[in-house]
Amino acid sequence: MTWYLCAWRRRSHMPEQYRALQGFRDILPDEQPYWRFVEETTAEVARIYGYRRIDTPTLEETAVFRHTSGEGTDIVEREMYSFDDRADKEGRRVNVTLRPEGTAGVVRAYLEHGMFKLPQPVKLFYMSVPMFRHEKPQAKRYREHHQFGCEAIGQEDPAIDAEIIGLLYQVYMRLGLKHIRVNINSIGDSNCRPHYVEVLKAYYQPLLSECCADCQTRFYKNPLRLLDCKNSQDQAKIAAAPKINEYLCEPCREHFAAVQRFLHLYQVPFSIDPLIVRGLDYYSRTVFEFFSGDDKTALNGGGRYDGLAEILGGQPTPAIGFGMGIERIILELKKQGIVPPAELSAQAFVVYFGKQPEVKDTAVQVVAQLRQAGIKTEMSYGDRSPKAQMKQANASGAAFAVLIREEDLANDSVAVKDLQAQGMDVESKQVQVKREDLLAYLSGDQAS
Ligand code: HAM
Repeated sequence: MTWYLCAWRRRSHMPEQYRALQGFRDILPDEQPYWRFVEETTAEVARIYGYRRIDTPTLEETAVFRHTSGEGTDIVEREMYSFDDRADKEGRRVNVTLRPEGTAGVVRAYLEHGMFKLPQPVKLFYMSVPMFRHEKPQAKRYREHHQFGCEAIGQEDPAIDAEIIGLLYQVYMRLGLKHIRVNINSIGDSNCRPHYVEVLKAYYQPLLSECCADCQTRFYKNPLRLLDCKNSQDQAKIAAAPKINEYLCEPCREHFAAVQRFLHLYQVPFSIDPLIVRGLDYYSRTVFEFFSGDDKTALNGGGRYDGLAEILGGQPTPAIGFGMGIERIILELKKQGIVPPAELSAQAFVVYFGKQPEVKDTAVQVVAQLRQAGIKTEMSYGDRSPKAQMKQANASGAAFAVLIREEDLANDSVAVKDLQAQGMDVESKQVQVKREDLLAYLSGDQAS
């Protein structure tokens, strides 16, 4: 709202008109078919691959995210919604955070509920889970976004890396999205990565004064992220930087080669992008991001996080997963002109003619009975004229109008008009049906 309107409202004692916070969005009914389409498709594919749903709390102790995502990351440094909770009985306050990402909470739950005692890997998915990051307002970046994610915990077999990437690819194919690019990389492990980081720092040291301010900070806090800089002045430096795939130890090299072999078997087309480093510190070995066409914003991201369970106090537990932003997928569906299946229109629209209270009472009763029997039914409210009600019935897309008229009350019948029939004369579009037969008639059992 513009400032002068706000000021005028205050002066004139008008109530303030509130708006959603910046970076937070309402998901209006017109948009819901897209959400349902993505949710149903992702849940179906996750089920086919043997993943079971998990929901974890929106609020966790801040340490769960701080220790896993990493101190030098954008998320931990400037994006978390953290605050001190109210004091407990002993007066202790816990610092808590609105979940900025899904993996740490899922692994916390895996450890807390002893899921390591189950046959491994434990394969879990979460769906439409809200995530909160105080990002700079910009396109495709919201302060509240929602993710579909899968986590396969307790297995280091490279075949499961291919399974996770293959699952995602199948989601995109089922959604009908085209021009999907799958980029993968290996960022090594605690054995080989420290050496690579030293090599990278040695390369950047003499260039540091020409780097952007963010890169100067990354050099000290999170050197791998130097490769993720989007600033144009740093692109040539990134292109010439030493690449991690030349510094992988033998086990990481073998693991990555096997991932690629299995991906071919899954028939997932992919490219290797040695610049994928990911924005969270917990990753190791395989990392990946999917893009559409030339778009630079990732549709999803994921990778291995073999050291995360240990950070949260568990045993060493290899694991891999991904998160896919549902808002970004919906933007892409719209961009590619993919229309989700439409919501089912009402089967019946009940219209009442006449001023007698019994007519409206009967209409309400018929509506209630049909709905209780599972028939999607609408009626018009506000005692509109029959003509206005019929107009509403036609516009609703309902299959039938059920007409409640004074003259039919005595013999307990209603008139049913077929709103979708074309080319019929008015008479045959409308039939008289006994109230007791109405349900069967509307359900398609018209012989009864
Ligand atoms: P992430 O790359 O930070 O990874 O986020 C995953 C996906 O969430 C992104 O690729 C994007 O689709 C979406 N996303 C992230 N931030 C925003 C935003 N501000 N607005 C809209 N969409 C956004 C993770 O969160 C990891 N937990 C993924 C993972 C799971 N890795 C292993 N397991």
